[in-house]
Amino acid sequence: MSQRETWATRVGFILAAVGSAVGLGNVWQFPFQTGANGGAAFIVVYLLAVFLIGFPAMLAEFVIGRRAERNPIDAFARLGHRNWRVVGILGTLSAFWILAFYSVVGGWVIRYIIGSVRGAYFSGSEAYFGAVSAGPEAVAFHALFMAITVGIVAFGIAGGIERSTKLMVPSIVLLLGGLAIWATTLDGGGAGYAYYLSPDVDTLVSNIGSILPAAVGQAFFTLSLGMGAMITYASYLGRDDSLPIDGATIVVLNTFVGLLAGLVVFPILFSLGIEPGSGGLGAAFITLAGAFAQLPAGRLLGAVFFIVLLLAALSSAISLLEVVTSYLADNTSYSRPALATALGGAIFALGIPSAFGLSILAWYNAIAYNLLLPLSVLTLLVFVGWVDTGDAVAELRRGTGLSESGAVAWLWFVRTIVPLGVLVTLLLGLQTLAVDAGLLAEAIV
Ligand code: PHE
Repeated sequence: MSQRETWATRVGFILAAVGSAVGLGNVWQFPFQTGANGGAAFIVVYLLAVFLIGFPAMLAEFVIGRRAERNPIDAFARLGHRNWRVVGILGTLSAFWILAFYSVVGGWVIRYIIGSVRGAYFSGSEAYFGAVSAGPEAVAFHALFMAITVGIVAFGIAGGIERSTKLMVPSIVLLLGGLAIWATTLDGGGAGYAYYLSPDVDTLVSNIGSILPAAVGQAFFTLSLGMGAMITYASYLGRDDSLPIDGATIVVLNTFVGLLAGLVVFPILFSLGIEPGSGGLGAAFITLAGAFAQLPAGRLLGAVFFIVLLLAALSSAISLLEVVTSYLADNTSYSRPALATALGGAIFALGIPSAFGLSILAWYNAIAYNLLLPLSVLTLLVFVGWVDTGDAVAELRRGTGLSESGAVAWLWFVRTIVPLGVLVTLLLGLQTLAVDAGLLAEAIV
């Protein structure tokens, strides 16, 4: 068997993982989730969820991936627990499912870059969104986005993913930072900062039942957990660096980019008197595009913003495609370009229905958020926390100065608090799905 690929450098792995984490979730969904869930109150719960639930769960994925050096499905067999492959299958299917509609949104973003340059949405952002978000044109841009994703993955771990994310991630930070600095010059943007940065305890307490699942779901999505992505990326490590330090770097950088995106979006909206969080998957595109249309140099600003969004989306999409590709690359002798192309084609096909209607896309998204992600993370935590415990502790300590008791503290967390938090999220999420399904049935009858 030929030598399995590895990252060329430690920084390369970290940036690739940051690229996976930083995506549509940070730049597009996060500011609007914040808006829809009470502003800064949401951010407090979200940050707690990221550090107390997301970070330990990410380490759990790393520990499995690095030790097994296999794709998420075979990893469990390699660690001696064949039956637990079902957890890997669930994660891999989730990656397949999520990329299908993620790529449709990626296609919108490409369309919006062109639209910004030409000022195409300046005369009516809502009508424009309606015209480009669903229908044959949306399918065409979905295909284009997927083709670029396939093109990167075809070049492999070090040659494709590592090389491209080394360029994309710093570009995202620089461009977004530039936009955030520019946003400080906006008249009336101050209310945006206040809304965003000063939590209101009453809002928090009275809405905790809806804020909690939204915040935990957002934390998983943004950290790329539950889809095998972090297992896969860690499986290419081939080195003994400190997983806790690398993981913490990734989590902090991802959070930083999310907060930075908020520092761009909220001042813009408030300076124009637009209320954030009017909900819905399209709202972000409509309100922001509408805002750019009213700003001086809006074409340039709009183009830069959507370029950031595209880089973020691409560096995440490649990690999703890599999850599925790695399974076949580990198990067949077909070339990586052939596998990436075939899988990209299949995922493209699965995404087509969601390019024909916003409500279909919202349904794809709801299944992922409310069911696949929490279920997959929960089973994974049970595996690491209760089944594979001794080896997991040793693996976490490998290459670190971490004491036995430090690693055991992590394990204790992974056994108790973290899965409990996820379980609550899953139950609340299923309830949301049931309500949605009821509404759907009513609409049909
Ligand atoms: N983390 C990405 C985002 O925030 C989404 C993603 C999830 C990417 C899972 C890869 C794996 O947009």
